[in-house]
Amino acid sequence: MAEPKENLQMEKIVSLCKRRGFIFQSSEIYGGINGFWDYGPLGAELKRNVKELWWNSMTREREDVAGLEATIIMSPAIWKASGHVDTFSDPMCDCKKCKKRFRADQLCEDQNLTLSRNPEGKFVLPVGTRCTGCGSVELTEPRPFNLMFKTYVGPVESEDNVAYLRPETAQAIFAQFKNVLETSRQKVPFGIGQIGKAFRNEVTPRNYTFRSREFEQMELEFFIKPDEAIEAIHGAVATMPATGHPGEPQPDWGWQAWHRYWVEERVRFYEGIGLSRETLGFHHQTPEELAHYARACTDILFKFPFSKKDDHGNVKGDELEGIAARSDFDLSQHQRFSGKPMGVFDDELRAAWGKLSPEKQADLWKRYYDNRKNYLTKSARPGETAEQIQKQATEDANGLAKGQYIPHVIEPSAGVDRLILALIANAYSETVKTDAKGKSETVFVMKFHPRVAPIKVGVLPLLKNKPELVNKALAVRDLLRPWMNVFYDDSGSIGKRYARQDEAGTPFCVTIDFDTLGENPELLDTVTLRHRDDGRQERLKISELRDWLFTRTR
Ligand code: GAP
Repeated sequence: MAEPKENLQMEKIVSLCKRRGFIFQSSEIYGGINGFWDYGPLGAELKRNVKELWWNSMTREREDVAGLEATIIMSPAIWKASGHVDTFSDPMCDCKKCKKRFRADQLCEDQNLTLSRNPEGKFVLPVGTRCTGCGSVELTEPRPFNLMFKTYVGPVESEDNVAYLRPETAQAIFAQFKNVLETSRQKVPFGIGQIGKAFRNEVTPRNYTFRSREFEQMELEFFIKPDEAIEAIHGAVATMPATGHPGEPQPDWGWQAWHRYWVEERVRFYEGIGLSRETLGFHHQTPEELAHYARACTDILFKFPFSKKDDHGNVKGDELEGIAARSDFDLSQHQRFSGKPMGVFDDELRAAWGKLSPEKQADLWKRYYDNRKNYLTKSARPGETAEQIQKQATEDANGLAKGQYIPHVIEPSAGVDRLILALIANAYSETVKTDAKGKSETVFVMKFHPRVAPIKVGVLPLLKNKPELVNKALAVRDLLRPWMNVFYDDSGSIGKRYARQDEAGTPFCVTIDFDTLGENPELLDTVTLRHRDDGRQERLKISELRDWLFTRTR
């Protein structure tokens, strides 16, 4: 259950997380349970802050995104339509000698080998792959292992009652697309955001919380018009600068501009909570890596202490979030499997179509037809004929000419737990301090961005045994409490208390001293405010304290 001892930095982080109450092993008193983690008092606050910042920036602060909170267990038909029942699996193999179990792709990667497929599409281990437990080369051939956790709904454990714990939050958004559209008065382009638990029975959970079996996701499905509709309405799809943020959304944006926009928006989000661009990396999925329906997928990576170096010694990082352009696959699948229409009607498109030249109409019709035919062919059910597919694609393209289409989607999908781990790794700092007597000690400071810091301010009376100081400090605590997470601490020397708050990552501490009480009349009702990262101190009026802290910690 314990982390491998190979990464000293990770070991230190894991130890601090336990010692200070950020993260505990789930069910620790019973020996733990692999792939499950609990968040202690500081971790719980950190997580709440992260989720709230995501929710505010992705929904409340935007006109074009609505929120959703769906159930974890849904109709199993959803997972059939999404493809999870048939294809959501990892290749697994076992060591015949020591019986250790592996995810075959990870086992190969760890040995700088590549897992390949044979002509029948089955995974095969390259020659020389060894068990990392006992070194044996006697390994079973990889076989697919479905990652969904199964359960039964109701008292009867029969096949008819099988249900799954959701392996992603996204599918509920697609399944509720029409309800949200109708009740939120949104129009395409618009998005639906959701934060919630997801479960995957990972073959080998690893790297602390990075790959867990229970985790949380923050997902946005942003629905956009197909490029053919944009071209019909605006004459052309907007062109974009080669790099960088494309700016405020424009009506003539096609999927590429929206995809770039969301990648850049998400990077700005990470920068806004303290993860600088230098700590991040990008992986643009290659055509071979992309799902057949996806047009592009950019992964935002973070350089974790366990992230591997490439041949040039550069750390690329590991995935924090994926931003995928998923075409109209998801809603199309739910339309086909549920029999319920998932398309929208667009007046602007219908009006514009009538004004197009017959050549332009024919060109757009044909491109839309080809895309639909391609999707329908790749997703065909057993027995579906080429004629049936062509008939359906023709109906779909005729629908476009009347202003109807199934929206396409851009999906920024982030993991809460991975982000928490990135924030902790990024904040962790240790220095050795030597006092006047030559005694050295290691000092830990968690340099969280104030917006995510679990505690925003420590309130400290200079002395515990002076009721005037204590009462004043309690009054300051109560003044700030409705607005932010405050920690009151009166035990130990002031230096020790500062050190405790530094380890918790508290960006500011205020000390109530005799000047606060008016010993120096000019300083009556002021406090000493100490900055965590450089130890700088300044004097602030209590009457200004709330606004000062509030603006710096939100
Ligand atoms: N709906 C798309 C989707 O679920 P994904 O790449 O499988 O895509 C999205 O997951 C994000 O969820 C990942 O970038 C990662 O942050 C997080 N995630 C996925 N599996 C995880 C696991 N086993 N443990 C922790 N986080 C995980």
